[in-house]
Formats: sequence, C-alpha cells, structure tokens
Amino acid sequence: MCLENKNSQIIFLTYLYKKYKKYINMSLFVKYKAKYLNEKSAIEYRKRLKELYPTTVHDSSLDKDYSGHKITYGEMDYSGIDQIVKSFSNKTFTSFLDIGSGRGKLCLYIASIQSITKSVGIELVTPRHLDALKLKDKLDDFSAITSKVKFINQDFLTCGLDEFARTSPLVWISNLCFDLELTNRVINKLIEQMPSNTVIACSKEYTGDDTNRLTKLDSLNVKMSWTESSQVHLYLIN
Ligand SMILES: C[S@@+](CC[C@H](N)C(=O)[O-])C[C@H]1O[C@@H](n2cnc3c(N)ncnc32)[C@H](O)[C@@H]1O
Repeated sequence: MCLENKNSQIIFLTYLYKKYKKYINMSLFVKYKAKYLNEKSAIEYRKRLKELYPTTVHDSSLDKDYSGHKITYGEMDYSGIDQIVKSFSNKTFTSFLDIGSGRGKLCLYIASIQSITKSVGIELVTPRHLDALKLKDKLDDFSAITSKVKFINQDFLTCGLDEFARTSPLVWISNLCFDLELTNRVINKLIEQMPSNTVIACSKEYTGDDTNRLTKLDSLNVKMSWTESSQVHLYLIN
C-alpha cells in the first residue's frame, strides 16, 4: 500500500473516531464494567465456596463397598490448584477435568476462572459425588459460574471424553494411592482421547510406554490435606 493511501486511511479512521467517540468510549466502558463485575463476582464466589467447604471432609468407612478400587480420600488445598494454574502464565486453560473429584471443591473453584468454559469432575464413590452436587446447589446464587460445572458418578476408565475436543484442558489426577498399573492406564486413556496441548497434573509419575506423546514439563511442591508439601508432576500431551 502506498504512503498516500495509508495517510488517507489514517485521516479517515481519525474522522470516524471523532464522530463516534462517544459510542466507542461507551462500548469500552460497558466491556470493562462487565469484566470488573465478573471479577468481583468470582472473588465473592470463591469466598463463599471456602466458607461452605473450608477443610477436607474425610471418610474411611466406604472401602468395603468399592473393593478392587483405590478410593483413599484426601484433597488438594485451594492454594495448590492456584499454584498449578499460575505456573502456566503463558497458557490459557478453557476446560478442567478432575479425575476422582471427591466432594467437588476443585471443580467448583476452577470454574470461577473466566477463561474456563467447562469444569468436569468424575468420581467413582457415590456418597462423595452426592456431596459434590449438594455443594454445587448451595452456590446456586452464582449460576453463571456453577453452570460450567458437571459432576459424573462413574469409573473414569469407562467415561467418554469427547466434550473436551476443541478445548485447552487442565487435568488433575490425585493418584498417590493408585498403583503404577492404574496410573498408566488412566494416563494412556488421556493420551488417546484428550486433545493435544492438554496439561496433566498428577501426584504419581507416569511410567508407561507412550512417552513419545507425553512431555514432562516440571514438578511442583503443593499443599495437600495430608501434608504441607507433596510433589505434583506436570505433563503435556503432544
Ligand atoms: C485423593 S481423592 C482426590 C480428591 C480431589 N480430586 C482432590 O484432589 O482434592 C481421589 C478420589 O479418586 C476417586 N477414584 C478412585 N478411582 C477412581 C476411578 N477409577 N474413577 C473415578 N474416581 C476414582 C476416589 O474415590 C477418591 O475420591
């Protein structure tokens, strides 16, 4: 494009801006106001969630009903999931999957991040799943946030994952109590069925064969309900 054309374009755009300044400024104001209100609501929502579910509710009497499964209970601290998300400052997650979501606090918490469009928790143990649904109901005043959350009462190994296609997912697996075989089966399924660019955070490392499609990124020390510092390993599906 020649200089003369460019100059006349700039002159024309300046003319348009001056003429419609009031409306342009108004739409910017509306946009920033909406962003401010969303952030304010997210802060109030997180505060309410922490009031409703401040500390981990443990249970140990359910083991006999789920023999053959590894259902030992414990939770990641709210600060732990913040730490994981913040360690990816250059990445925007648009979905979250908690494998073994327990009483649901992490799915509900992550849903308050604006870029997240769906937050899914899959939990095998029915009483824990029901507690998660109850907690979600108690947060119904914030339906713009909770409508992004879905809890599924199922064995992860039998679940479909199609809904994560075309999203940028963060997956959390609290798999410290899983043996290596189960850990590898769970991660192999993620490698096969989740989109490339999925980040997996887990407590126990992958030792399976599919290392071409999985890159180890980092390890962090994160606060859990049973210890101040537990290692979390971060992987990327290529
Ligand atoms: C240690 S808890 C983690 C709770 C929560 N994700 C957190 O980190 O705060 C692990 C959960 O995984 C669930 N679980 C174990 N095997 C599972 C499976 N095959 N499918 C779905 N959930 C499973 C257990 O019942 C348990 O509630």
